[in-house]
Amino acid sequence: MLLRALLLLVIHGFVVVSGASCGCSSVTIPVHVDVLVPKNTSDIFGGLKSNLTDLRRVNDTYDIHGVFCRPNVPSRNADVLQLLVHGFSYTSQYWSPPVEEFQNYSYSAFSCDRGLSSLAIDLVGSGLSSRPKDPADVQFPTGAATLSQLARHLKEAAILPGVQRFRKIIGVGHSLGSGLFNFGAIVDGAQSPFDALVLTGELILDPNGPPLGSGTSAALIPARDSEPLRWAALDPGYFTVNDRTAFYPANTTAFSPRMLLFDELTKDVGTVSTFVQLPISSLPAEHYRGAVAKVVGSEDQGFCGNSRCVEAAALAEAERVVWPAARSFELVVSQGSGHDMNLDFAAEKAFSIIFSFVAKFSR
Ligand SMILES: *[C@@H]1O[C@H](CO)[C@@H](O)[C@H](O)[C@H]1NC(C)=O
Ligand SMILES: *[C@@H]1O[C@H](CO)[C@@H](O)[C@H](O)[C@H]1NC(C)=O
Ligand SMILES: *[C@@H]1O[C@H](CO)[C@@H](O)[C@H](O)[C@H]1NC(C)=O
Ligand SMILES: *[C@@H]1O[C@H](CO)[C@@H](O)[C@H](O)[C@H]1NC(C)=O
Ligand SMILES: *[C@@H]1O[C@H](CO)[C@@H](O)[C@H](O)[C@H]1NC(C)=O
Repeated sequence: MLLRALLLLVIHGFVVVSGASCGCSSVTIPVHVDVLVPKNTSDIFGGLKSNLTDLRRVNDTYDIHGVFCRPNVPSRNADVLQLLVHGFSYTSQYWSPPVEEFQNYSYSAFSCDRGLSSLAIDLVGSGLSSRPKDPADVQFPTGAATLSQLARHLKEAAILPGVQRFRKIIGVGHSLGSGLFNFGAIVDGAQSPFDALVLTGELILDPNGPPLGSGTSAALIPARDSEPLRWAALDPGYFTVNDRTAFYPANTTAFSPRMLLFDELTKDVGTVSTFVQLPISSLPAEHYRGAVAKVVGSEDQGFCGNSRCVEAAALAEAERVVWPAARSFELVVSQGSGHDMNLDFAAEKAFSIIFSFVAKFSR
C-alpha cells in the first residue's frame, strides 16, 4: 500500500502539504548565474584557492522549482522569508514529505503555523529544477550563486501576485544546503542578501581528514546504475547515495522504518563536486555580517560519530572561529537527532530549535 502510494508520488512529482492556516503553491523562478568554477571538479575548495587559469566560466539561466508556503492569517513577519535548502541527493521534499502519514515531519508546516513563510527549493541539478547537461557545471560556486541571486530577486520582486516583497531573507540549510550558504557567505561577504543563516547538519570538515561518510555505509553511486528505471539516460556524472541509513541515528528505534523506505524511494541526485566541496566550511567567512546559528544532531553519524558533539560549548567555540564578523554565532546540539534531523522521531525538537533561531533573527 505505502509502496504504491509512494511510487505514484514519484511519478507525479510532488504533492503540496498544507494545513488549514497555511497556503502552499508550487513556483518556478528563472535564475541567472555567471560564475567561475574549477576545471578540476574534485577541487575541495570549489575554486576559491585556484588561479584564474584553473577556472572556467559558467554563464547560464536555470529554472529553480520550489514550494512556497505562507500563513493565511495576517502575520507580524509577513515580510520575512525562510529559504529552505536541502542536502545532497534530497529535494525540497526534505522540508515537507508529501505523504499524509508524514505531515508531522513538515518544517514548512511547523513554521507556517507559527507565522513564518518559506520557500523550499530544489537545487540546480536536483528535483524539478534545471539539470545541466554537463554535471561539471554543477559545483559549489554555481549552487551558491543560484541561492544568492534568487534571494536578491525575491527582495526586488514579488514571488507571486498579491504577495509583498521580502525585506528579510533567512537562509535555512541542511547539510549540502548549509555548505552552499557557507560558500555564499565567503564569496558575498557584507553584500550577502541573507540577513541571517541557520545551518543544520553541517560542521567544519578537516580538508586533510577522511572524506565525509567514511566509516559509515553511505557511498556515492552513479544514479543510472542505482535506479535504471528512473535515470538510465542520465550522465554518469550525476550520483546518488544508495544506502541511506547513515543519515539516521544508529539506534533504529529512533526513527520510523517507513520513513527510511520513503527516503529510499524518493532519493534524488547530485554531482561529485557538490559532495567533495563540503570542506569549504573550514574556510573563514571573513566579511559576512549576519547572524549565524548551527544545529547538529547528537546522533549524526557523519559529523558527530567521533564524540565531537558531546561538549556543545567546546564545539561552538571551534565553529565560531570561521565567522569572525558575524553579528552573533550560536550552536545547539539537538539531543537524539540524526543527520536528517527533520526525518526522525526527534524532528519536533529539531523544528523548535530551528524555528526559535529564525524567529529571533526575524525581529
Ligand atoms: C584535483 O583536485 C584533487 C583535490 O584537490 C587532487 O587530489 C587532484 O590531483 C586534482 N586533479 C588534477 C588533475 O589536478
Ligand atoms: C598560481 O600561480 C602561481 C604563479 O604561476 C604559482 O606559483 C602558484 O603555485 C599557483 N597556485 C595554484 C594554487 O595553482
Ligand atoms: C551571459 O549570459 C547572458 C544571459 O544569457 C547573456 O546575455 C550574456 O551575453 C552572456 N555573457 C557572455 C560573456 O557570454
Ligand atoms: C535504542 O534506544 C532505545 C530507546 O531509547 C533503548 O531502549 C535501547 O537500549 C537503545 N539501543 C541501543 C543499542 O543503544
Ligand atoms: C506528531 O504530532 C503529534 C501531535 O501533534 C505529536 O504529539 C508528536 O510528537 C509528533 N511526532 C513527531 C515525530 O513529530
